[in-house]
Amino acid sequence: MADTRCELSYCRMRGIMSLLTAFIKDRKMGLNDFMQKLVSCPHMCQHDVRGFLTIDEKRNEDIMNLDDELDSAMHSNGPRSSLAEETQMKPCDFHYLKIIGKGSFGKVLLAKHKETSEYYAIKVLQKKVILKKKEQKHIMAERSVLLKTVKHPFLVGLQYSFQTTDKLYFVLDFVNGGELFYHLQRERIFLEPRARFYAAEIASALGYLHSLHIIYRDLKPENILLDSQGHIVLTDFGLCKEGLEPNGTTSTFCGTPEYLAPEVLQKQAYDHTVDWWCLGCVLYEMLYGLPPFYSRNTAEMYSNILNKAPVMKPNVSNAGRELLEALLQKNRTHRLGAKQDFEELKIHSFFSPINWGDLIAKKIKPQFVPAVTGPMDLRHFDPEFTHLPVTSSVCNSDSLMVTSSVREAAHAFPGFSYGPPKDHGFH
Ligand SMILES: *[C@@H]1O[C@H](CO)[C@@H](O)[C@H](O)[C@H]1NC(C)=O
Ligand SMILES: *[C@@H]1O[C@H](CO)[C@@H](O)[C@H](O)[C@H]1NC(C)=O
Ligand SMILES: *[C@@H]1O[C@H](CO)[C@@H](O)[C@H](O)[C@H]1NC(C)=O
Repeated sequence: MADTRCELSYCRMRGIMSLLTAFIKDRKMGLNDFMQKLVSCPHMCQHDVRGFLTIDEKRNEDIMNLDDELDSAMHSNGPRSSLAEETQMKPCDFHYLKIIGKGSFGKVLLAKHKETSEYYAIKVLQKKVILKKKEQKHIMAERSVLLKTVKHPFLVGLQYSFQTTDKLYFVLDFVNGGELFYHLQRERIFLEPRARFYAAEIASALGYLHSLHIIYRDLKPENILLDSQGHIVLTDFGLCKEGLEPNGTTSTFCGTPEYLAPEVLQKQAYDHTVDWWCLGCVLYEMLYGLPPFYSRNTAEMYSNILNKAPVMKPNVSNAGRELLEALLQKNRTHRLGAKQDFEELKIHSFFSPINWGDLIAKKIKPQFVPAVTGPMDLRHFDPEFTHLPVTSSVCNSDSLMVTSSVREAAHAFPGFSYGPPKDHGFH
C-alpha cells in the first residue's frame, strides 16, 4: 500500500464494485466499452475510477480477477441466470423479530429465515429516500464490497441481497455480542492483554482490506462488534458518509469526531494510514478509557488533534505507549504502517505475544465471552431500538399502489440482488 495513488476508500471501492457488477450483468458490452463508460460516466466518482483503472497493468488484472470471482459467485446461483436478480429470496421468507438499529435511510432488523430457522441481521433501506439523497451509487457499492469476495474472519459477511419495488435488503450475519465499546463502558478500561487481542483482530481485518486496496476509514466504536464467542466483527450498519455533503468528497470523517485523523480534519489527502490512526484511537480508548484528544469542547478537541501530543499516563507498558505514539503520529508519512502497512504493526513489540496465524484462524481464545444465551439474546443491544415495534410493512412492500416516484425508484438499482453458491444457502 505504499502506492499513494491508490487512495481508494472503502466507499469509493464500493462504487467501483457496483460498476463491475453492472458490467457483469450486461455481458453484451465489451470490456473496452465498459472502461470507456466508466471513465466518461459523469455520475460516478470519475476521478477515483479513472485512477483505479489507469494505475497499471497489474491493477487491471485485479479487476479481471474480481470480475471472474464476482461472475462465478453470480453464476453459481443458478444454471442460467448471470445475476441473482432472479434469486427467489423475498421479504416474506423471513420473520422479522426486532429492530436492532436505525438510521436516516432505514433500519436493521433481526430476522429468522422461515425455512432454515437461521438468524440474520437484515438491513432494509428505502429506495425513495436514497434516491432523494442521490446515494444509490454508495448503496450499490456497499452491497458489492460486502460480497463474498471480501471475506475475512473479522469482517461481517453479506449472505444475500435482494430488492422489491421500494426497498433494498441486505441479509448480513447476525452478530450479537454487543458493541466493543458497550463492554468498555461497563468496565472503564481493558487490561493490556485484552486490548491487545482486540487491536490485533481489528488490525488484521484492516490489513486485509488494505491488501484489496480498500481503506475502511469508518473505524468507529459503533462499527466494532463482538460475536457470541468474543471475537471482533467489523461491520458497517450505518451508512457511509462520503458524499452526503452537496459538494465535497474530501470533507468526510473517520467515524466519531474524536477519531478524526489530522489529515481528514484538515481536508488533506489521506491514504490507508488513516485506518492506523483510527486504530491508535481505539487502542488508546481501550487502555485509558477516553479517546486520545478528548475534550468536551469540540473546537478544543480539534485543536488537540492537530497540535497536541497524546497524553500517555504511566499505567500502560512501554511497548503499548510506543505503539500508541507510532499510530498517533500527526504526519501520516511518519505513522506506523506508512511504508509496509500491516506488516509494520505485526512486528511491533506490543504485539509480540500475538501469533498472527493463530489469531486469523481464531485459535486464540477470547478472554471475555459475551454473556449471551443464543442468537435471539439481545441483551447487548440498545433497548431504545429493540423495543420499537416492527411494522408489518417490511413484508408487504410490494404494494399495488405504485406511485410514479416508486416506479422511478424501482429501476434505480439494477444488479442489486445477490445470492451465494447454493451449497451455502437456503434450499
Ligand atoms: C461547498 O459548500 C459549502 C456550503 O454548502 C460552500 O461554503 C463551499 O464553498 C462549497 N465548496 C465548493 C468547492 O464548492
Ligand atoms: C492500572 O493498571 C492496573 C493493572 O495493570 C489496573 O489494575 C488498574 O486498574 C489500572 N489503573 C488505572 C487508573 O487505569
Ligand atoms: C510530513 O513529513 C514529510 C517527510 O518528513 C514532510 O516532507 C512533510 O512536510 C511533513 N508534513 C507536514 C504537514 O508536516
